[in-house]
Amino acid sequence: MSHKKHFIALIGFGTVAQGLCQILHDKRAELFAEYDFDFEIIAVTTRSRGTMYHPQGLSLSYLLELAATTDPFSDHLINWDAEDMIRNSNATIIVELAHSDLQSGEPAITHCRTALGTKKHVICGNKGPATLAYNELKSLSAKEGLHFLNEATVLSGTPVFSLMQKTLAGNKVLRIRGILNGATNFMLSEMESGSEYEQAIEAAMAKGYLEADRTADVEGYDAQAKLTILANILMDHPLQVKDVQCRGISKLRPHDILAAKAENKRWKLVATLERERQNIHAEVKPEKLSLSDPLAQIMGTANSITISTDLLGDVTITGPGAGKIETGYAILSDLLTINRGESS
Ligand SMILES: NC(=O)c1ccc[n+]([C@@H]2O[C@H](COP(=O)([O-])OP(=O)(O)OC[C@H]3O[C@@H](n4cnc5c(N)ncnc54)[C@H](OP(=O)(O)O)[C@@H]3O)[C@@H](O)[C@H]2O)c1
Repeated sequence: MSHKKHFIALIGFGTVAQGLCQILHDKRAELFAEYDFDFEIIAVTTRSRGTMYHPQGLSLSYLLELAATTDPFSDHLINWDAEDMIRNSNATIIVELAHSDLQSGEPAITHCRTALGTKKHVICGNKGPATLAYNELKSLSAKEGLHFLNEATVLSGTPVFSLMQKTLAGNKVLRIRGILNGATNFMLSEMESGSEYEQAIEAAMAKGYLEADRTADVEGYDAQAKLTILANILMDHPLQVKDVQCRGISKLRPHDILAAKAENKRWKLVATLERERQNIHAEVKPEKLSLSDPLAQIMGTANSITISTDLLGDVTITGPGAGKIETGYAILSDLLTINRGESS
């Protein structure tokens, strides 16, 4: 079987990029034998460590050694920032894994635009571009016959987009309802087990579940961004962040959680999208669910989403919403989509 070799460049070398490198290192032979997936990581660029570049490929074992430190890169160093790397390297796929900025989406939107404009596929785990510029980037990718893939942005490696676009193709999505933020779901579970709100925050921070700016989680902005991405990709509706009503869990306290428990109910941060004639109603808010509601059973950091479809009815998928290997896997699944050579 003839195959194409992919030259992959990583923007960002944090948790997810390192998880991806671990998977690619451990499964290289299997991915080649089973999926005819042949690749090299040719560049890695971060804001503070610099850019490493080798057009024939950097060693994955070496990259994993570098993952254990935060020292500036020293071998294969080149004086390029991410933008220079996209324009000047021989990459065929750019993987954007820098911090998500949900206000401006930058510099990630520019990275994606430049990559597509210079004929490179884009896999973007960063939520900024899909939240704020999905239609522009998707149109650009389609015009160029390239992929712009975002599986990691919602429910990490738990398949949402590929599930609907491939396995459940032919269905129309009528409604989406889910728990899209693992950090707050963990905090609600902690409070149900007796923690105060501040203790629940501390426990979530200690485990690395909360974003550096915790308001993204506790005020619901992370779920609001994910709902925007879901509306754009799965409902083909150009929803904007400002169209999503949003209230987080920051006002909930243990006495609310315990009062709900006494009624056989449970508070959850629920995100809902619903078609209403030509429009879509979109909302993130805490809801007191009956224990018979499947979302009430989602505890800890798990995420879950129920997609109501016209042909198959309700389909629910539950799985990890974050994590090093779990999100690295989301990037791998997008890489394999590109490798299968499916149209964009
Ligand atoms: N972690 C998860 O489970 C998960 C799940 C789904 C989606 N995501 C998204 O995936 C992305 C990566 O997450 P992560 O957990 O790996 O983040 P992380 O550990 O904080 O790493 C972020 C990386 O981005 C680099 N970076 C920041 N600004 C940059 C720039 N302008 N140019 C080049 N590199 C830059 C950082 O480098 P410096 O340290 O040198 O600044 C760092 O290497 C984020 O957008 C996140 O929201 C993460």
